[in-house]
This record gives sequence, structure tokens and C-alpha cells, in this order.
Amino acid sequence: EKGDYKHFMLKEMFEQPDAIRNAIRGRLDFDMGTAVLSGLEFSPRDSALISRVLVVGCGTSMHAGMVGEYAFEEMAGIPAEVEQAAEFRYRNPIITPHDLVVAISQSGETADTLAAVREAKHKGATVAGICNVVGSTIARETGRGVYLHAGPEIGVASTKAFTCQVSVMLMMALKIARTRRMPRHEGEEMCRWIERLPELVEKVLEQNDAIKAVAEKYAKCENAFFIGRGYLFPVALEGALKLKEISYVHAEGYHAAELKHGPIALLQENTPVVALLNDIPGKDKTLGNAEECKARNAPVIAVVSEGDEEIADEFNDVIVIPNCPPSITPIPTVVALQLLSYHIAAARGCEIDQPRNLAKSVTVE
Ligand code: F6R
Repeated sequence: EKGDYKHFMLKEMFEQPDAIRNAIRGRLDFDMGTAVLSGLEFSPRDSALISRVLVVGCGTSMHAGMVGEYAFEEMAGIPAEVEQAAEFRYRNPIITPHDLVVAISQSGETADTLAAVREAKHKGATVAGICNVVGSTIARETGRGVYLHAGPEIGVASTKAFTCQVSVMLMMALKIARTRRMPRHEGEEMCRWIERLPELVEKVLEQNDAIKAVAEKYAKCENAFFIGRGYLFPVALEGALKLKEISYVHAEGYHAAELKHGPIALLQENTPVVALLNDIPGKDKTLGNAEECKARNAPVIAVVSEGDEEIADEFNDVIVIPNCPPSITPIPTVVALQLLSYHIAAARGCEIDQPRNLAKSVTVE
């Protein structure tokens, strides 16, 4: 039931601190500075034998996988790739016995992701699932994996599943990293940050009214861009997906560096650009890209880290994200973009929980 909330999406966005708490409960081992994910069934030796991680999924789940890709490479030093599940299954992927294939699916029923799981198993990979729905087909067929414990997600636009998927990917990367080159004290610090995720998300939810005011300024736009780099590149893609699916505003997520290779031609005074300028490596470059947008008269909504507000002075609007390391920042940042999309859609009078042409789970190819 929606309770006091107008939409399931709103309720589920506000449930995120608790959903993440449930996703991490009992899974952080501060003594060893690692994560305990019993469903993965990896011994340290199994883990040491993994030579590559391939992440497959669709839509929002694929975006969560992209954050995971960065985390596996940065934290664990393992080559990682993410691929759209349908592309993976049909392009005859090269898989070796030392590959770990991670399938991400909220519903656990997405046809393309399931087919990718079957293909990967057939080719001899170790396959793990990250699912929310307990006993779903992908959860059963992967046999090993990690449940989100996010609770049922009813809104068609995925919100709490994404933040829990990323939380689980970070724990998976941490677990594997600690069997490799990551020292205990770094693992312990990562545990502390993961434990703080619910609180970081709460700080963003507290800005709901301010984000709503920004959203209402742009509710009449027909086009929008989201730009970011590094850990925030997938967040830009996810922000654009949320906006287009619930508000029907044509939104594009781009790597900030890619803008000048074409899409910048579309910018004009009624095309807002959401620039993810949080304090992570590459921030200064994205800042330069946001200035280029401003020079084309596009309004810029700057998303910045706390303490960095002055960089937003030259832009039209600002949303402030609590300070945290680069690998952690996708989670609070995406929550701000979920709220922004929600309020734009609400101001446009859209049917938020049941967007046209969409279904909660896509069981056809
Ligand atoms: C977007 C959305 C979809 C799903 C995609 C995969 O808000 O919900 O893009 O993420 O259809 O669904 P699952 O995760 O159930 O495999």
C-alpha cells in the first residue's frame, strides 16, 4: 500500500534508507574489512581464480552494473565489463572458465538477462545473480548470488532496486578485493562508508522540497541532458532514463566528454543540462563541459559535493550531495535525480506509477 504517499515511486524513493539497511544487514565484517555474502559461496581460492567479471543486465539494472564495473576494476583490480544482456547473448561472447558472470535483475524474470545467464552457464562460466524477487527464475537458475532484500518494488520506474543493486555490487567488489590486493584497513574504511549509505541517502531526501522547486522551473522543457564522468557516468544515464520514462521529456545521458562530439548542437536556452560535478576525479573537466553548455545558453543544474557550493555560483541551480568517496557517491546522487524526475513528471501531470508503454517486468525479448 502507498500509505501517505501519492505514488509508489515516491514511497519507494523514501524507503531507500531502510531498503539499503536491509541490503547490507549482517553483510559487513569490520574485523576483516570485508563483506560476507553467503549466497556467493566463494572461497578465497575461488575468488583468487577469477580473472574477469562480466556484468549483464538491462535498463536500470545495467546502469547499476556499470557502477559495479568501475568498482571491480578500482577496488579489486579485476578487468570488468558490463554488457546489455541481449547483446551479450546474441554475439557469441568469449567466455573462459575463470570468468565470473554477474546477472543483475530486480524482477529476476527479464527474458534477455535470463537468456544471457543460460548462455554464460552453457559456456562454462561461474554465474551469480543479483536479484530482488526471491525465488525468481534468474535467482534459481544462477544458483548462487545475493538478494537485495529491498522489499517489493511496485512503481514501474526502478528506484530502490537501483540503490540496493549498487550497494550489493560494492560489497561484492569489496569481498573479492579483500582476497586480492586490498589491505584490511582499506576494506574496513569501505565497510564504514557502506554502513553510512542510508544516512547519506537521508540527507538527500531531506532536500526534497528544494529539488521540487528546481523541478518545477523546468517542468515545461521538452529536452534535457545529463552529463557525468567516471562513477557518475552511469548515474547520468540513469538520471536521463528516469526522466524520460516517467515525464516523457526527451532526455539523454552522456559522458561529459562526449557532448562536444555532436549532442552539443542541440543545446539552447530551453534545454537544461544536469551536470554531475561531485568531487571525484575528473570534476574539473566536467566543470569545463558545463561551462561550454552555459556558453550555449543552456540552463545548468549543478550537482555538487557539500563544501563545493561555490562552483555552482555561475550556474542556474544547485543540488548538494553529502561528501563521500567516488565509489559511494552514485547512490546519494541518483536519489537526487530520481526526485528531480519525479517532480518534473508530477508537475506535468503524468501517470507516474504506470508510464505509457511500460511494464514492470519485460519477459519478452
Ligand atoms: C527502469 C526500469 C527498467 C528495468 C529493466 C530491467 O526504471 O525499471 O529499465 O530496470 O527492465 O528489469 P529487471 O531489473 O527486473 O531485470
